[in-house]
Amino acid sequence: MLKSHNCGELRKSHAGQKVTLAGWVHRRRDHGGKVFIDLRDREGIVQVVFNPQVSQEAYEVAGSLRSEYVIQVTGEVARRPKGTENPKLATGDIEVIVKEAVILNPSKTPPFYITEDEEVEESLCLKNRYLYLRRPRLKDNLLLRHRMIKFIRDFLDARGFVEIETPILIKSTPEGARDYLVPSRINPGKFYALPQSPQQLKQILMVAGFDKYFQIARCFRDEDLRADRQPEFTQLDLEMSFVETKDILQLMEELFTSLVQTIKPDMQVLKPFPYLSYKEAMERYGTDKPDIRFGLELRDMSDIAANTEFQVFRSALDKNGKVKGICVPGCGHYTRHQLDELIDLAKSCGAQGLVTMAFTGEAITPDEVKSAAAKYLTPRQLEEIAGRFEAKPGDLLLIVADKLNVVNKTLDELRRQIAQQLNLADAKLLAFAFIVDFPLLEWNEAENRWEPMHHPFTAPRWEDVGLLDTEPAKVHGQHYDVVCNGCELGSGSIRIHKREFQERMFSLLGYSQEEMESRFGCLLQALEYGAPPHGGIAIGLDRLAMIFAGERSIREVIAFPKNQNAVDVMFDSPSYIDKHQLDELNLQLKREILRPQ
Ligand code: AMO
Repeated sequence: MLKSHNCGELRKSHAGQKVTLAGWVHRRRDHGGKVFIDLRDREGIVQVVFNPQVSQEAYEVAGSLRSEYVIQVTGEVARRPKGTENPKLATGDIEVIVKEAVILNPSKTPPFYITEDEEVEESLCLKNRYLYLRRPRLKDNLLLRHRMIKFIRDFLDARGFVEIETPILIKSTPEGARDYLVPSRINPGKFYALPQSPQQLKQILMVAGFDKYFQIARCFRDEDLRADRQPEFTQLDLEMSFVETKDILQLMEELFTSLVQTIKPDMQVLKPFPYLSYKEAMERYGTDKPDIRFGLELRDMSDIAANTEFQVFRSALDKNGKVKGICVPGCGHYTRHQLDELIDLAKSCGAQGLVTMAFTGEAITPDEVKSAAAKYLTPRQLEEIAGRFEAKPGDLLLIVADKLNVVNKTLDELRRQIAQQLNLADAKLLAFAFIVDFPLLEWNEAENRWEPMHHPFTAPRWEDVGLLDTEPAKVHGQHYDVVCNGCELGSGSIRIHKREFQERMFSLLGYSQEEMESRFGCLLQALEYGAPPHGGIAIGLDRLAMIFAGERSIREVIAFPKNQNAVDVMFDSPSYIDKHQLDELNLQLKREILRPQ
């Protein structure tokens, strides 16, 4: 090795020892005739001192050092002089007095600071990813992710799970996104799909008798990207035989609780994890991934609104809409400008507008309510509204009257925004919750057909099966989600394990017998050979790491992410390929998208 110790590991106990270190010049300071370098490696930073009285030669090397040069130094660990210790640094009690120094490799000046955590333009930090990853925050994120995955592997191994890899070149499995396709050279005209998840394969592993499987699985989905979505991402994928919903969710609760205790001991979880039905989550939070760290719950006031003369309420209700709102405590004094910002936010969610109602006085009386709706409300109605929201003087109501899905979406967004503005969420709390009792199907209005709420392999609640042909909307699925701090972390379900039933589900979803055979023939056949009852779940590991790291985007916990246009900026991928590669694959591009010359 070119080094005897890591920079970050040196402590008081090493004082007097001769060490050789190798790393990057993090910071350089010149004073008092000495040069001080903060030397950085993966384990941390240590101060190394170049004193001409100790070594003139090393001091001269120090003179030519610049940020990010890679150097090797040999010297003695010494206690720092009294008063110069740095309590912010793990190595802050000591420094290394350099006797020999070698430049292993100089560096060009990086396009952004490694030492500061200031924001860097996205394309720059993706293009120079190797530099961005040198930043201590990013490095710590990747180390955290490593420890999380190691913990998960050990946890599941100790409970009898086997890790099995499944292929990346497969046949399409529907998860609601488009597939990434790979042309086959050996089979002209045919394509593999990259897995959107190993869903069918893990079910087939259950049929094969591996009753507790898991995988840290790469998944690929060609879908619109957001802060918590990447075209390729990683799941903890898990499947078990002979289980019911509660077995899987208990396992998840144990896994997450012990993961937090071990990896994030300064954070708390809510125990036991709350269970919310889909219906309750939608009613109370307007979303199936609620952040339950704070209140601001939605209340339905459609019944009160129906008796008012206020046209905004009446016309929404006439169109079968709803009137719901949230009460923001103590914000009745919001300025016109602040209210306008909330109105704009509501409009950006598709709402026609936002009714604000500020209780500005000492008591809730008609004269002390500021709202466009006020003059259409009787004192009794006003009292009823305040009562519905348990509003107090000084509070602000935000009310949306629209189609139910628009109302929910808008209030969910407003709720999150306000919680952020008012700092309502406890940053030390990881509020996991299980969402259960989802409908099995949802109606796709544009395409005039039923779609699975999760995926087509999800079993209905057995007691609802009788309704499948008559009232499909009323059938619940044995489907569950795990959410944490407002983020959907994972989804899973108990699966259909009998062929006839799986076929019935496919035909309800509009697949013909031929389509079933060509797309899912293998799974259907497997279900005929003694498939055990089984179920599983998949947790988005990027999202979990993002939450543990306190980041706002999964890109900050992925070594080499893609940008919003699914481009790998560092390698410039996707890229054009040569004509002979296209020929080998029997592919021809449309003239208009041919490579620009
Ligand atoms: P689902 O499609 O809900 O379920 O995915 C499970 C979890 O994977 C994460 N995830 C993503 N993370 C980053 N970028 C993406 N584009 C992305 N898409 C999904 C989310 C999500 O909750 N086969 C089923 C699971 C099962 O039934 O066992 C599945 O994949 O955290």
